[in-house]
Amino acid sequence: MKIKKLEDLQTLVSLSKRRGFIFQSSEIYGGLNSCWDYGPLGVNLKLNVKKAWWNAMTRRNDIVGIDASILMRPEVWRASGHEETFTDPLVDCKKCKNRFREDENVIDGKAVCPKCESTDLTEARNFNLMFKTFMGPIEQDSDTVYLRPETAQGIFVNFENVQTTARKKLPFGIAQIGKSFRNEITPGNFTFRTREFEQMEMQYFVKPGDDDKSFEEWKQIRMDFFGKIGVNKDNLKFSEHGPNALAHYAKAAFDVEYKFPFGWQEIEGIHNRSDFDLSQHQKHSGKSLEYFDEVAKEKYIPFVIETAVGCDRLTLAILCDAYREEHKTLDNGKEDVRIVMGFKPSMAPYKVAILPLSKKPHLKEVAVKLRDDLSQHFDITYDEAGSIGKRYRRQDEIGTPFCVTVDFESIDDNAVTIRERDTMGQIRIPMDKVKSHIFEAL
Ligand code: GAP
Repeated sequence: MKIKKLEDLQTLVSLSKRRGFIFQSSEIYGGLNSCWDYGPLGVNLKLNVKKAWWNAMTRRNDIVGIDASILMRPEVWRASGHEETFTDPLVDCKKCKNRFREDENVIDGKAVCPKCESTDLTEARNFNLMFKTFMGPIEQDSDTVYLRPETAQGIFVNFENVQTTARKKLPFGIAQIGKSFRNEITPGNFTFRTREFEQMEMQYFVKPGDDDKSFEEWKQIRMDFFGKIGVNKDNLKFSEHGPNALAHYAKAAFDVEYKFPFGWQEIEGIHNRSDFDLSQHQKHSGKSLEYFDEVAKEKYIPFVIETAVGCDRLTLAILCDAYREEHKTLDNGKEDVRIVMGFKPSMAPYKVAILPLSKKPHLKEVAVKLRDDLSQHFDITYDEAGSIGKRYRRQDEIGTPFCVTVDFESIDDNAVTIRERDTMGQIRIPMDKVKSHIFEAL
């Protein structure tokens, strides 16, 4: 048997649409560029990603969660530096009028139009990536607000609220999952770079001087997390930001990169943000954000180690990682191709598919009862249409780890057949043991 992994993104885009992972936004109107909607499978998968991250972050004594609003006072973005410096250099090609990021296609140190390859370009202008809107009915400058370009600032401005109410001592962290918006000049590669996306960010507050050690610890914790949710370690690596690539707030930064079909790309940023953000908010708000260290009997502004992962980007990495084609030559010489989304079971959109062998009412009744019982504990799907072989293949293609077949004997012996996705091995077990069997296997 030959196994082929995902080679081009289009294969995944087609599968996502065909099976219901991800659809183009506003598709019936021709689609909205760079915006995507998660279908019934995609929403389950993304929820599993969020749950895994949230539990890894908040089920420990030193991290608590928040959910801040998307709209914030504009002063936040002045203080954070986003109003001034959250920009990309934008150029126009004088030949074909294409507009693109100056650093998008650089050949021998020179920006080149990715469309017509001309180097005759306009001077670069800085384009701010924040989406602007207005609060209230009048569109005037004084009412300008921004859709947040990162969730982190909601955490910084709540530092004091959280620290005092949760009664946390340093080191401690605050975690948040939420939507962010960036008016990217060149979005693309499916859900990899979009203008609306979800981030999972954690800011870990430490005593100045403890930041380098904490930074190293968090690098390790985060890399381990990807392994735990089933991402192939060979497809992950760190990439350090050189001094010229550091964001305006960062003292040190590493990206976790994933090997997508279109190359190695960032999925998570791990940053040492020093005391930049809290100092800026203290300065601009006039409110003290110093922490009193009862052990050292001193006051200081904590340093921050940040881990920031894109939920959509990680979900895309998991989809790419899970895809495989099993090619086999049959006895009659024909080639059989089994497409499998080999998710780690905890990530799979559905854990179990209930498949009655026929639609006959007495069989259906047993299958529906089993479905409803198991639905109390797992994400379950039910399919009674088509040949059993085709139904298995459909479940393989959406990554369901277990298929439970209810057949005519089930009515007499109260037993069912469980088929495992990866090995295709089948066992027969009593119906009342299905729940514990799945629990164990998960
Ligand atoms: N608070 C720090 C911060 O936002 P970032 O490296 O700009 O850092 C963190 O973003 C993560 O958010 C990225 O690693 C990526 O996974 C995700 N992300 C950023 N821009 C994105 C976009 N336009 N589309 C999808 N995900 C994006």
